[in-house]
Amino acid sequence: MIYLKTDEEIELLRENNILVSRTLAEVGRRIAPGVTTKQLDTLAEEFIRSHGAVPAFLGYMGYPASLCISVNDRVVHGIPSDKCVLKEGDIVSVDCGTFLKGFVGDSAYTFAVGEVSDEARQLMEVTKEALYKGTAQAKAGNRVGDISAAVQEYAESFGYGVVRELEGHGCGRKMHEDPGVPNYGARGRGPLLKEGMVICIEPMITMGNKAVVFERDGWTVRTRDGKPAAHYEFAVAVRKGGPDVLTDYSIIEEAIKNE
Ligand code: MF3
Ligand code: CO
Repeated sequence: MIYLKTDEEIELLRENNILVSRTLAEVGRRIAPGVTTKQLDTLAEEFIRSHGAVPAFLGYMGYPASLCISVNDRVVHGIPSDKCVLKEGDIVSVDCGTFLKGFVGDSAYTFAVGEVSDEARQLMEVTKEALYKGTAQAKAGNRVGDISAAVQEYAESFGYGVVRELEGHGCGRKMHEDPGVPNYGARGRGPLLKEGMVICIEPMITMGNKAVVFERDGWTVRTRDGKPAAHYEFAVAVRKGGPDVLTDYSIIEEAIKNE
């Protein structure tokens, strides 16, 4: 069942995703060698609650934290830990969700810890650009497959892997609504995009092979070959004239500029 949102509901979803963007900006500011992923999680939980919202991931299907923090070969759903200490050269994917005024915000960003290798930097940039290419297709009258194909074609043109086991999703009063939004597929296929649909587009792109392993903690997803992965996620409202992006990366990028 796909729920179409009213303009008022879209504004509440925007409010959530702006709070997520601001939380990710706070996290990004704190990211540095020596910081633990648990410290980042605590910071995010306090920031979210101080704005009258609740961390949407905490307790979701038993998930034990407010953020998912996935370092290097961890693709998504890494559990913050006081044993996970960031070091120079790491790439860190941070996924954040809020629950405020009856709706859910869900967005992610991959950060560099200090100076990272050129190849890691390129992986991050291409994954973000793949998200933008997919987002540009989020227009009423297009199909989900138009988004999927745009993400896949761009990422694969660099020889990267597109993770198959996880996908984007509708988002509204619940974090995961229909339709699923895969990061691979064929143009012109899949559910029709309609005015008022809100979807999360979230490419998970690997530097090497696309195969992933689900760890025994029940959550963490990592690359099978141990090479790094990046993950960016936008919430987007589908409009007749094109995408209305509800997440604001400029808040994050302003915060981490010159660091
Ligand atoms: N952005 C993630 C997703 O779309 C958030 C879910 S993680 C969980 O699946 F911890 F909340 F489960
Ligand atoms: Co999501």
